[in-house]
Amino acid sequence: MSPDLSFIAAPMVNQSDFPFRRIAARYGATTVYTQMLSPERLIHDQEYLESHRRDLQYRVEESVSTVVQLCGNNAEEIVEAGRKIQDLCDAIDLNLGCPQEVARDEHFGAYLLGQKDWPIVENIVSCMAQSFMVPVSTKIRLCQPSTKTVEFAERLQASGSSWITLHARTVSSRRRRQGAADLSEVKKLKESERLTIPVVSNGNVRVFDDLAKNLDYTGADGLMVGETLLGNPCLFSNDALPDPVDISLEYLDICRLYPGVATLKTIQTHIRHFIDFQCTRRPWFKKLRVALNACTDLDDIEHLLRVKVPRWRDMTMKSAKEGSEDERDGIDMEDSGVLWPLPPN
Ligand SMILES: Cc1cc2nc3c(=O)[nH]c(=O)nc-3n(C[C@H](O)[C@H](O)[C@H](O)COP(=O)(O)O)c2cc1C
Repeated sequence: MSPDLSFIAAPMVNQSDFPFRRIAARYGATTVYTQMLSPERLIHDQEYLESHRRDLQYRVEESVSTVVQLCGNNAEEIVEAGRKIQDLCDAIDLNLGCPQEVARDEHFGAYLLGQKDWPIVENIVSCMAQSFMVPVSTKIRLCQPSTKTVEFAERLQASGSSWITLHARTVSSRRRRQGAADLSEVKKLKESERLTIPVVSNGNVRVFDDLAKNLDYTGADGLMVGETLLGNPCLFSNDALPDPVDISLEYLDICRLYPGVATLKTIQTHIRHFIDFQCTRRPWFKKLRVALNACTDLDDIEHLLRVKVPRWRDMTMKSAKEGSEDERDGIDMEDSGVLWPLPPN
């Protein structure tokens, strides 16, 4: 199946588990990415391979494509690793955007964007494109200087990348605090006459309206969203925010239906994100964090969500009626997760 690139759930380390990909797909994602996987571990660590094959064994939705992302700088290794999972996905992406220290130390991700490394990247992409049964794509950041990005994208296209996702920030602007993505760079890629493959825009989507605004401005063929989707997995389908407890319970239900594909820690983190996104200012929020961390299984989490949180919310509503408006349970977008210091690794 050729992926529909309209609305994509971004690759996110420890957060792109099957239940999360499934809930994003249920609410409008047309393609979902796995987190970046290590080729070396797929080849040499049987447990790692099995856990990721388990995670990929079900389709998220019949019409929704799954893209596996690989990182690395060794073409042979990447091809060998890709062959171990290509039967379970619709495309394989090469990570050329990771800005983390591990990527710097091991020389992969965004640290391959320098022109001196382009031949290495071109070789990897063309080996992938020639070896895999499924299409190959690339996810990049801006080259430095950014004027080089179009040329680099053209080279990726010539090497066999079927589409390109641009997160239009440089490797040095790792955190959003250091500046938003420069969507004019996505627009430039789309305006390049020689670049004919689809371009996906990644960055700066915080609310539903940003989807249309981003597409209108950049002219991109699709959008990829990461952090905002962690807080609101329904973003692609709906202007309204989901109730954070309801969406947490829905996610938990999927985890129960597909046991063993998301770890307890991953599940706890997702639920914290769903609640963080709207409720960080609630008086009960700190209690929730402590209680969530103390949960030892899904039953504990469900009890917390079904019994304790509603009780805390009720108490807050009651005291709001008696006291200040600020106490009302509601939405705190200004406190939302957009600046969470989440380490991508
Ligand atoms: C927790 C987390 C983990 C991430 N892991 C990856 C990853 O494995 N591969 C990758 O290409 N990008 C990764 N990213 C970057 C996102 O895919 C995306 O490019 C970035 O967050 C910008 O999009 P956004 O503004 O919509 O969040 C990660 C981001 C976050 C927040």
